[in-house]
Amino acid sequence: MAEQLTGTVALITGASSGIGEAAARVLATRGAAVALVARRKDRLEQLAEAITQQGGRALVFETDVTDQAQARLAVEQSVAALGRLDTVINNAGVMLLGPASEAPLEEWDRMVALNLQGLLYITHAALPHLVSAAQTSPRQVADLVNISSVAGRVSRNGSSVYAATKFGVVAFSESLRQEFAGRHVRVSVVEPGVVATELATHMRAEVQERSMQRFAGVERLEAEDIADVIDYIVTRPRRMAINEVLVRPTQQEG
Ligand SMILES: NC(=O)c1ccc[n+]([C@@H]2O[C@H](COP(=O)([O-])OP(=O)(O)OC[C@H]3O[C@@H](n4cnc5c(N)ncnc54)[C@H](OP(=O)(O)O)[C@@H]3O)[C@@H](O)[C@H]2O)c1
Repeated sequence: MAEQLTGTVALITGASSGIGEAAARVLATRGAAVALVARRKDRLEQLAEAITQQGGRALVFETDVTDQAQARLAVEQSVAALGRLDTVINNAGVMLLGPASEAPLEEWDRMVALNLQGLLYITHAALPHLVSAAQTSPRQVADLVNISSVAGRVSRNGSSVYAATKFGVVAFSESLRQEFAGRHVRVSVVEPGVVATELATHMRAEVQERSMQRFAGVERLEAEDIADVIDYIVTRPRRMAINEVLVRPTQQEG
């Protein structure tokens, strides 16, 4: 069971830290060759080296997925270098919370550009390869896993545009799921609660402070916990699709 993904190829966006990095590690231990996609090349190279040292195969694609041409190139170069594409983890994202009344519009643009458009660009480029993988691979199934958030299920005061992007990911995923079900391309959405990663560090200081207060005393999830969910999704038998996983820290109420 330890090498269920041997012979397959997985592309992970946002693999340079947090959930993406943890997901890349776990898929590599399952035997998948991994295409590591993000902007911080040094971090991707460190991860690729660690995976390689443990006997895995990893290639680095320095990519800004908000750029349509770069996103497509990352997918096409992965397929050219690794021969196929069975699994895509659309994980790259940014969370810039705070009241709408004081939000710099640039923050809203960044969230829409990455959380929605970047995910769409990668998906559009990857779909033909996933369909082909589901037809030709020994597993006869392919996986597209989109990382949304609890904010894709519950919209809260102060999370307006982040929630809009994550609700968008859920809506997009469900429509795609129906469209590709008959072709054995499974489309899944993962909706984590608070996870201990770099995500919150990109917010303005005053917003970060408020967010810290909200989760004071809550034991956060680890990136590995979400990687574990992703691992579960992509290693199910062909007949079984995990459509949606909402996963919160035990103590997180909302
Ligand atoms: N942490 C949480 O509490 C939490 C909860 C719910 C959902 N999520 C979701 O989980 C996903 C991963 O977040 P995380 O918590 O692991 O945070 P993270 O450590 O900040 O990871 C974000 C990743 O996105 C990448 N990224 C940012 N801009 C990019 C761009 N333009 N092109 C390509 N990659 C880009 C970053 O890499 P580079 O900077 O190197 O490009 C990084 O690898 C996000 O979609 C987030 O919304 C997180």
